[in-house]
Amino acid sequence: MRIGVPGETAAGERRVALVPETVEKLIRQGVSVSVERGAGTGAFIADAAYEAAGAQIAPDTRALYESADLVVRIHRPASHPVLGVDEADLLREGSALIAMLWPLQHPELAARLAERKITAFSMDAIPRIARAQALDVLSSMSTVAGYRAVLFAAHNLPRFFPLLMTAAGTVSPARVFIIGAGVAGLQAIATARRLGAVVEAFDTRAAVKEQVQSLGAMFVEAEIGAGDAEDKSGYATALSEDAHRRELELIGGRVREADVVVTTALIPGQRAPLLITAAMVEAMKPGSVIVDLAGEFGGNCELSVPGETAVVHAVTIHAPLNLPATMPVHASQMYSRNIAAFLALLVKDGEMVVNFEDQIIRDACITHEGRIVHERTRELAGSGTGAGRESHGR
Ligand code: NAI
Repeated sequence: MRIGVPGETAAGERRVALVPETVEKLIRQGVSVSVERGAGTGAFIADAAYEAAGAQIAPDTRALYESADLVVRIHRPASHPVLGVDEADLLREGSALIAMLWPLQHPELAARLAERKITAFSMDAIPRIARAQALDVLSSMSTVAGYRAVLFAAHNLPRFFPLLMTAAGTVSPARVFIIGAGVAGLQAIATARRLGAVVEAFDTRAAVKEQVQSLGAMFVEAEIGAGDAEDKSGYATALSEDAHRRELELIGGRVREADVVVTTALIPGQRAPLLITAAMVEAMKPGSVIVDLAGEFGGNCELSVPGETAVVHAVTIHAPLNLPATMPVHASQMYSRNIAAFLALLVKDGEMVVNFEDQIIRDACITHEGRIVHERTRELAGSGTGAGRESHGR
């Protein structure tokens, strides 16, 4: 079996799906690997490094797709910016694909892949279960995003993060407030703490309190009447109108005191909850910074402009769309290791074996043998609608 790694074509993307470390490991396990010429350039990986790991370099995009039995990418296939063709049509009929496909947002792509008899796996559909942690690209990329969000804030804040005792007197530490303590939020807490800030965090899922505290942050406790704010897979559920109003009151008080606010709150399949109003921004100290990691889903801050940095009422509001692409070396390494862990379940003795008895394979498989096998995607493809916007995994 030959695995093919094309160069990513999404605007601003600098990651690559497999790094030489993984390529070497895969080749040892009995598969061949082709990498498109220059695919690693954005992540500072030379073609020679792939060759040294045992890969062949495909001279161009078409040659790469023609040779591959399984294509591994980061982003879903889209229109190729140079060739002007749909990348889904470059895949060889009957071959396989692994990428972040966001099938619920793009059921029409799933339909096209099924038509072309592609066996497609979506890394964003991997279940969030303990056994799947090593495969979890959403966690990996959220880790990058949480870290970068705090660095942006520190860089743009006109104050120090740490407490300093200097000959010029004592400098008080920055106050950082993190809203949403999932993977990105916890990494933001850890990063802000390492820089010496005083950190507090809030999440509607009370289950995260201990995790927040173990990172040295204060968990903002309040009875907002969130009830059971967690579904059976551990994701947050939407709040009632009453609980949301109480949450806004609580957040308003904390935001006013903060120098930096990082928001990460998401509810799967829905618009991100609006948690910072324009009035709250106006009440913040001039020079404060908000980083809104929910930009892709509409944003947690009323004044966020997804993909842009705005300065309103002397507060910098940054709502980045693809932070993992800004740290391509480690983001590629983590993605690549997640893929290797997935391939360990999918490839036996150098050949792909799709075992639907395995929950991870079953949940991640979107199309197989000419059909959409992912139930929710099939329903959406049938109705001709998608389920809102996709995320780049932050
Ligand atoms: P996410 O990106 O969907 O949401 C981020 C955070 O926002 C969550 O903690 C959520 O509770 C919070 N949130 C939602 N609405 C809010 C509101 N109104 N106010 C304040 N906070 C709000 O979450 P993520 O990071 O993807 O993690 C989801 C769950 O999956 C977590 O329980 C996490 O521990 C679990 N998980 C499990 C893994 C595994 O076992 N393989 C791997 C990664 C995560």
